[in-house]
Amino acid sequence: MKFIIETYGCQMNVADSELIISILENYKSLQPEEMFEYTEDINQAQIIIFNTCSVRENAERRVLGRISNEISRKQRDRSILIGVVGCMAQRLGEKLNLKSNKRGIYPQIDFVAGVDQYEKLPEIIQECKKKHKFIAQTTFNYDENYTDLLPSRTNKLNAFVTIMRGCNNFCTYCIVPYTRGRERSRPVEEILKEIKQAGEEGYYDVTLLGQNVNSYRYEDINFPKLLQRANQIDSIKRLRFITSHPKDLSDELIEVMANSEKVCEHIHLPVQSGNNEILKRMNRNYTAEHYISTIQKLRNAMPNIAITTDVIAGFSGETEEQFMDTFNLMKEIRYDFAYMFKYSERSGTKATEFKDSVPEKERLARLQRLIDQQTIITTEKYKQKIGCVEEIYVESFSRKNANLLSGKTRDFKITVFEGDESLIHSFVKVKIIDAVGWTLKGKLIADD
Ligand code: SAH
Ligand code: SF4
Ligand code: F3S
Repeated sequence: MKFIIETYGCQMNVADSELIISILENYKSLQPEEMFEYTEDINQAQIIIFNTCSVRENAERRVLGRISNEISRKQRDRSILIGVVGCMAQRLGEKLNLKSNKRGIYPQIDFVAGVDQYEKLPEIIQECKKKHKFIAQTTFNYDENYTDLLPSRTNKLNAFVTIMRGCNNFCTYCIVPYTRGRERSRPVEEILKEIKQAGEEGYYDVTLLGQNVNSYRYEDINFPKLLQRANQIDSIKRLRFITSHPKDLSDELIEVMANSEKVCEHIHLPVQSGNNEILKRMNRNYTAEHYISTIQKLRNAMPNIAITTDVIAGFSGETEEQFMDTFNLMKEIRYDFAYMFKYSERSGTKATEFKDSVPEKERLARLQRLIDQQTIITTEKYKQKIGCVEEIYVESFSRKNANLLSGKTRDFKITVFEGDESLIHSFVKVKIIDAVGWTLKGKLIADD
C-alpha cells in the first residue's frame, strides 16, 4: 500500500514525518502485498496522511482546506484512506470525524493518531482498512521517545535529530504544551549514535531539535554537554539547534558554542515581546533587559553570530506603548531575520482568559509595522555580507536560476554562485559579491 505524508508546522513535525515513514516502511508482519511503501506522488497513494499544526488558527485552516481538497479522491476510489496525525490530531482527536461526533469536521477522515501513537500507526491503518471504521488514538504517553528508531530522511543533505519532545513552559498564548505533552529528553548515547550515522550517510549539516533545547537533560548531561559531545563526531561538519528559550540560555552554552568548531554562528532566540509587562503575562520568565544582555554576551563571544527570532504582535492587552517596546527592541537588536505573527487565540490556553483583546485590524496593522521595519534591517544585514568570504554547503541548483548552484552559509543564509554540478554536496569557499533580496550572490574562490 502506497502512502504519502503532507507535513505542516515546525521542524518537529518534519522530523516526526520521517519517523512515521520509517515506522510504516519497516513494518514487517504483513503479507508482502500489504507492505507500506512511501510515495511522493499523491496520485499513487492509497493512504494520504496529513501531519498537522495547531499553533495558530491560520495553520489549522490551511490544513483543513487541504484535507477538504483531497477528500474528493475518495469518491473516485473508496479504498483510499485519509489520516490526520500531529498537533491538530492531538488537539481535536475524534472531533475531526463527523461519524463519531456531531461537531466533527470531515466524516471522510478515516484515522487520527496523536503525537505519541505513531508506533501504532501500522495497526491503526490495518484495522481501519479491514473493519471500515473510523479510529482515533490520541492518548499521551510520556515515556514515548521513539527509541531505537532511525528516521527515514526525506531531505538529502541536512538531518534533523530530535533530542527532546514536549514542553513544560506553558507560555500563556501557546497550544504546544497541550498538543505535545510533557517534556522528555532522549538518551544521550542514542542521540550521538543517530548524529554519527546521519553524518556517515552524507547528512553533514545536523540540526538538533526540541521545543526548548536548553532544558535538555539526560542523567547528568545538560544541553551544553550534549552539544560538546556532538561536536566531537567526525562524520558531520555542521551543527545547529532549535529552539532556544532565553530564560535557559546559559553562559556555559555560549562558551560551548564559541569553542565548538562545528556549531554554526547562528542562534534562533524567540523574544516574543519587548515589553516586560507583556512578557510577564506571556509567562516567558525573562525581562527585555535580560534578553538584550544575553544577546550582548552571544555577540561578544561570537562577533559574527546571526540572530533570528519570533515575535507576536497584538497579544491580549498590548497597548500601543507596549507594542512600541517590541518595535524598538527589534530596531536595537537588528535581527538577521524574524518570524513575525499576529496573536491568535488558541482555545484552552491561559491567555484566552485575558481581557482587552486587541482588535484584529490593529493586530494586523502592528504586525505590518514590524514586518516593514524588519524587511529593511534584513536587507541591510544581507548587504553587509558583501566582500566577506563564506563557507557554503552546496545543496542543489538554484530554484530561481538553474544555471546557479545554491547552498547555505554557516550563519544560514542562502547563497547562489556559478559552479559545476559536481560541487553539490560539498563545501566550498565563495566571496560574497552581491545581495539580492534575501539571497547572497557569491563567486567561487580557489581553495588554499
Ligand atoms: N518552542 C518554540 C516554538 C513555538 S511555536 C519556542 O518556544 O520558541 C513558534 C512560534 O509561534 C512561537 O515562538 C511564537 O512566536 C508563535 N506562536 C505560538 N503561539 C502563538 C499564538 N497563539 N499566536 C501567534 N503566534 C504564536
Ligand atoms: Fe510554546 Fe512557550 Fe513551549 Fe515554546 S516554550 S513551545 S512558545 S509553551
Ligand atoms: Fe510544531 Fe505546530 Fe505542533 S509549531 S509543535 S506542529 S502546533
